[in-house]
Amino acid sequence: MLWSKYFIPTFKETPIGVEAMSHQFLLRGGFVHMLTSGVYSYLPLGLKVLRRIEHIIREEMNNAGAVELFLPCLQPVELWKQTGRDEVLKDVMIKFTDNRGRAMCLGPTHEEVITDLVKNYVQSYRQLPVTFYQIQTKFRDELRTRFGIVRACEFIMKDAYSFDRDLEGLKKNYQLMYEAYQNIFRRCGLDAVIIEADSGAMGGDMSHEFLVTAPIGEDTILRCPSCHSYCSVFGERANGAKCPQCHKGVLKGEVAIELGHIFRLGTKYSQAQHAQFLDEDGKQKPMIMGCYGIGVSRVIAAIIEKHHDERGIRWPGEVTPFDVEIVPLAAGNEAGEIVDLAQRYYRELTASGYDVLLDDRSETAGVKFNDADLIGIPLRVIIGKRNLAEGKVEIKDRRSGEAVVVDKNAMSQKVAEIRGGTPCLKN
Ligand SMILES: Nc1ncnc2c1ncn2[C@@H]1O[C@H](COP(=O)(O)OP(=O)(O)OP(=O)(O)O)[C@@H](O)[C@H]1O
Ligand SMILES: [Mg+2]
Ligand SMILES: [Zn+2]
Repeated sequence: MLWSKYFIPTFKETPIGVEAMSHQFLLRGGFVHMLTSGVYSYLPLGLKVLRRIEHIIREEMNNAGAVELFLPCLQPVELWKQTGRDEVLKDVMIKFTDNRGRAMCLGPTHEEVITDLVKNYVQSYRQLPVTFYQIQTKFRDELRTRFGIVRACEFIMKDAYSFDRDLEGLKKNYQLMYEAYQNIFRRCGLDAVIIEADSGAMGGDMSHEFLVTAPIGEDTILRCPSCHSYCSVFGERANGAKCPQCHKGVLKGEVAIELGHIFRLGTKYSQAQHAQFLDEDGKQKPMIMGCYGIGVSRVIAAIIEKHHDERGIRWPGEVTPFDVEIVPLAAGNEAGEIVDLAQRYYRELTASGYDVLLDDRSETAGVKFNDADLIGIPLRVIIGKRNLAEGKVEIKDRRSGEAVVVDKNAMSQKVAEIRGGTPCLKN
């Protein structure tokens, strides 16, 4: 991609009232744009990151045996009355009457819709188990929107739902999702803390939250300074209690942000909505359900919270919008040669499977470097007059800040070496 043909509106100034580093860099780097409080547009660069995270999620979900589908945002409130959640969720549900006079809502989550769908198609134990997932927009009328896409009114979630004959099956599916979540967060460059949690308004007998420690977190998790284990006891009230694991350390609260939550639901929804199947023993039974959510847009913010310095983002390799950024510093007599080499590099790296951004703008070195630091592409190839006079170019690692000067004909080889020889999948 050529910078001049793309759309990366960067800003030097920190917008007023923006507290979180992730929010600041997302706005200044031209990743997202706020339409109104809690409602965001994804600009091309932000969309690219989103697609890469979605790609990881799809791989791990498919790998765990889940099947992708796509459910509607627009839903009849009538359906929600079957479980009573039109009341339970009334504070976050965005409701309205359509022109035909029907009470409708924009889905804050999809348990009711998926249960209704599965009930229509699954009648026999032979059709079970089945796990569906989708990556889709959710709507919640959050009173306190915070930190940009971290707590928004319109956001993107991956939600999955499993349907089983019995508790054994649910346990198996739950474990598969648990492991898929571990893989997803690891590949996103996140060190997720997993704790047993409250099932809350969702219902069910067991749930686990996947959190990442970060200053923007709204949850407190407890950690033992002695054995370093995290504790399932929730909330600040347990702050100062003895660690149940080693009985030595005194638990300390750490602020963390929730990125994922998985639930063993049981029959709460299938019973209320009469989603039954005919079992092998000839009896009608309610399906045993689980549900599994990840805040995809919130994950982007969490990655930035964990991977930045004072100048900007430092994307982990699998979620970066581009793999390599080429920065030609074309000026004066050598401009033609520098531009030619930049274009050759662009073709070379692209042919090797890298997703390449070429900063072909006629901006100063200072502007280009500042923007490169801000948007955070892992590798930068700098073609400057002084190095080129000796037949060399510079490769800089955004993460470590280290730079190497290599022969101009050894650039591709060096990039492959640094990236471990396996360029990211393009999307
Ligand atoms: N308003 C929101 N904006 C962005 N992401 C959200 C929002 N609400 C929830 N999420 C994400 O969706 C995931 C699954 O949704 P779930 O209903 O379990 O969240 P929740 O318990 O309401 O989250 P929270 O406690 O943060 O409100 C959450 O783990 C979180 O990552
Ligand atoms: Mg919530
Ligand atoms: Zn301990």
